[in-house]
Amino acid sequence: MKQKKIFAFAVAMVLLMSTTRAQKLSENTQVQGMGADDTSVLYRQSVFFMMQVHLNQLKDMTTQKTLYQPDIFKATAQQLQQLSRMSNNAFEVHSKQGYDIPSNAVEGIWDEQEKYNAAHDKLLQATSALVKASESQELNESVSEAVLQVAQSCKSCHDDFRAK
Ligand code: HEC
Repeated sequence: MKQKKIFAFAVAMVLLMSTTRAQKLSENTQVQGMGADDTSVLYRQSVFFMMQVHLNQLKDMTTQKTLYQPDIFKATAQQLQQLSRMSNNAFEVHSKQGYDIPSNAVEGIWDEQEKYNAAHDKLLQATSALVKASESQELNESVSEAVLQVAQSCKSCHDDFRAK
């Protein structure tokens, strides 16, 4: 009996710790808890969150809010490309309902998979064009335009597949 209580306490501690970690991971999402099956929701939300951070860094450089540093710009563009590839990993299984972490994914992702994949392909094309543009190592029109195109691909998928 006593051992069972100790075990339950240990499980509760682990759950509590992972909840705190999940909340820290993305403060601007509505993460409220984390059960064993929430991995895919947390995974994609974390990847998207990181994509936002990288895109903002690139935007800040093209709008000269921060200093444009060619090497950092290029590395950030490459990281964004890698994250974009990862962003489709956690949609393979239908993972919207029955999880503790609220998700803004809409049913259309699984009902209209071709359309969703086309939206994801747009992102891949846009980030790949961005990486190419970043190789010029100078802040020119095509670099700024490439950043805008990436942002546009984010928005168009959100319009169709992310709950408002
Ligand atoms: C192919 C579709 C698609 C593309 C392209 C896309 N997103 Fe998303 N994004 C989603 C979906 C779906 C969600 C909701 C995920 C969930 O809550 O389960 C989301 C959620 C997010 C979130 C909220 C994450 C969180 O913490 O809950 C951010 C931030 C975000 N996207 C940024 C971006 C940025 C930046 C880009 C472009 C560089 C981008 N997204 C491109 C579909 C997309």
